[in-house]
Amino acid sequence: HAETGADAWLRYAALDAAAARRYVNTLPPVVVVLGNSPVEQTAQRELIRGIRGMLGVTLRVSSTVPAEGAIVLGLDPAVRKAVPGTPAGNPLAEDGYALSLRTAGTARHLSIAGGSERGVLYGTFALLRKIALGEAMEALNEHSAPYAPVRWVNHWDNLDGTIERGYGGRSIFWDKGVVREDLSRVSEYGRLLASLGINGCSINNVNTDPRILTAEYLPQIARIAEAFRPWGVRLVLSVDFGSPQRVGGLATFDPLDAGVAAWWKAKTDELYRAVPDLAGLLLKADSEGRIGPSAYGRTHADAANVIARALKPHGGLFFYRGFVYDHHMDWRNLKNDRARAAYDNFNRLDGQFDDNVVIQIKHGPIDFQVREPASPLFGALEHTNQAIELQVTQEYFGQARQLVFLVPMWKEALDFDMQARGAGTPVKALVAGKVFQRPTGGFVGVSNVGLDANWLGNHMSQANLYGYGRLAWNPDLTSQQIAAEWTRLTFGNDPQVVQTIESLQLKSWRVFEDYTGPLGLQTLTDIVGNHYGVSVEASERNGWGQWHRSDEKGAGMDRTVATGTGYAGQYRPAVAKRYESLATCPDELLLFFHHVPYTHMLHSGKTVIQTLYDLHYDGAVSVEGYVNSWKLLKGRVDERRYAEVLAQLEYHAGQAQVWRDAVNNWFHRASGIADAKGRVGHQ
Ligand code: GCU
Repeated sequence: HAETGADAWLRYAALDAAAARRYVNTLPPVVVVLGNSPVEQTAQRELIRGIRGMLGVTLRVSSTVPAEGAIVLGLDPAVRKAVPGTPAGNPLAEDGYALSLRTAGTARHLSIAGGSERGVLYGTFALLRKIALGEAMEALNEHSAPYAPVRWVNHWDNLDGTIERGYGGRSIFWDKGVVREDLSRVSEYGRLLASLGINGCSINNVNTDPRILTAEYLPQIARIAEAFRPWGVRLVLSVDFGSPQRVGGLATFDPLDAGVAAWWKAKTDELYRAVPDLAGLLLKADSEGRIGPSAYGRTHADAANVIARALKPHGGLFFYRGFVYDHHMDWRNLKNDRARAAYDNFNRLDGQFDDNVVIQIKHGPIDFQVREPASPLFGALEHTNQAIELQVTQEYFGQARQLVFLVPMWKEALDFDMQARGAGTPVKALVAGKVFQRPTGGFVGVSNVGLDANWLGNHMSQANLYGYGRLAWNPDLTSQQIAAEWTRLTFGNDPQVVQTIESLQLKSWRVFEDYTGPLGLQTLTDIVGNHYGVSVEASERNGWGQWHRSDEKGAGMDRTVATGTGYAGQYRPAVAKRYESLATCPDELLLFFHHVPYTHMLHSGKTVIQTLYDLHYDGAVSVEGYVNSWKLLKGRVDERRYAEVLAQLEYHAGQAQVWRDAVNNWFHRASGIADAKGRVGHQ
């Protein structure tokens, strides 16, 4: 069928005849599912679908394990019982799986054992992925366990069907104030999520319409939960902190008021009657105009705990966003710094949050900019659960128009050693609760897919959703592994296709950085408009605090302890020291931490200003190169996707030039320093 992108990385395209034959000869032709839960039934159906698509054969369904062997799906203990000769082993982790192929005499059994029903489904997707990637099956014996229990996506969908910062069309959940009649895209999305091991999904904007908690919405929300359930994806709702007053009719929403606590408890009980497996609730409070505990002089811990206690008997988690800052800050005060906000707000509350509260922290201290250091809050919280929030939707990354693969950026944040207990405490381990032995934690991705056939407004952005999910399962995978997997699954195994697309994806973040905000300027995107185009000054002289403080004399924001905002001092001493000093601060973050003259010499041996000029030219040239590489794939990629990606890349190349000239001209005028290569300022 025409390649619309709807099946994303789950196309199950036919393998070439030789590869298909090899698998057909290795795999048992019969499938047995031992459990009858909806999730296990889904696993069996998916297996049949995938094998049929890739190998052209239809597995025979049997209710008992035949002597000659079968593909056996089920919970670990059940599989051990049903498949003769399964060796004893450690119990599987929850949601983990084991795949193994065993031959005994003439019998051949392939078992897919799960540590939970979800694990059975995840193991099935893993097996199908191996086949699509052409991996050998003969010696199959693999155990896999998720790195962290929380692997969620968030959606910023409004009840009217629009999506805040969504670039792939209208909401798959909502339309005109109600849940959509046709939820088939929700099921299809559940399938994509399950294939990555994602187990929770919030369905409404963090800038929440309080009506979501009214009785009218409960049966509607239950329908979405039902569409997700066969895929093991549990529902999450965003809530408004003012709800007890706004929809509950109370006189107050003070978290320490007994009536308010009772209201949250009753409301939560009601939610669980409608959606018994609700995963939890999510709150953005006291930020960007949202109501919060500050209205009553209460703390974030007071606010979090009142709702967490209502969720506790149901096993629900409460996610409290760390994205709290003052967006009316005085820019004339050089000590003011939005980057400080998350740490300043939450560090002093460490230890005061209940055990089912998770602080959801954006990966950097500002807001998904092209280059930020990892948030110091990750390294500070020792007695509080945390999750990292990564943004899949490309808000500040060219939205649906430019190609930017975010996995290498996320990897840098996840692998960054916060030195929270000496060396060896990367962000990924902190958020997973492995460093300070927290009961829960993990990963949240702001996904914002929409009704567009390809979900995200273009084909290449799907790699970001795929990559997010793969990292949430296993953050030790490399960017290269993820790019290669995604490309093969999405575009097939032709070596030239794989090599070209993989290489485009892998360089794209740094290229984007080159022409939109290098050296730690973060981003020079129009932050007051739609967060897409270039506007060097948009961030300055307003209260939003995304300042880079570039002027006639120099560029960058002084965040040192010695002379600046003190932000650098929020890191543990070893890290703080590295950022504090000009001698050791890495070039790529120089202007994030320091204000320097344009003639400042970088570690690279070049001045700041010449580096800005050069990188902008390099970036634009690289994007032009994307177009040329893509054109060599004509005939190797199906017509439709070939043409759609080509159009995207051609547009992207033009945009990179617009950025290059706007940024370079601005810095040329500000600095009065000529480009050594004579390119800038002659228009
Ligand atoms: C960004 C984004 C907003 C969003 C906010 C958040 O600022 O532009 O649309 O509401 O982040 O994460 O809450």
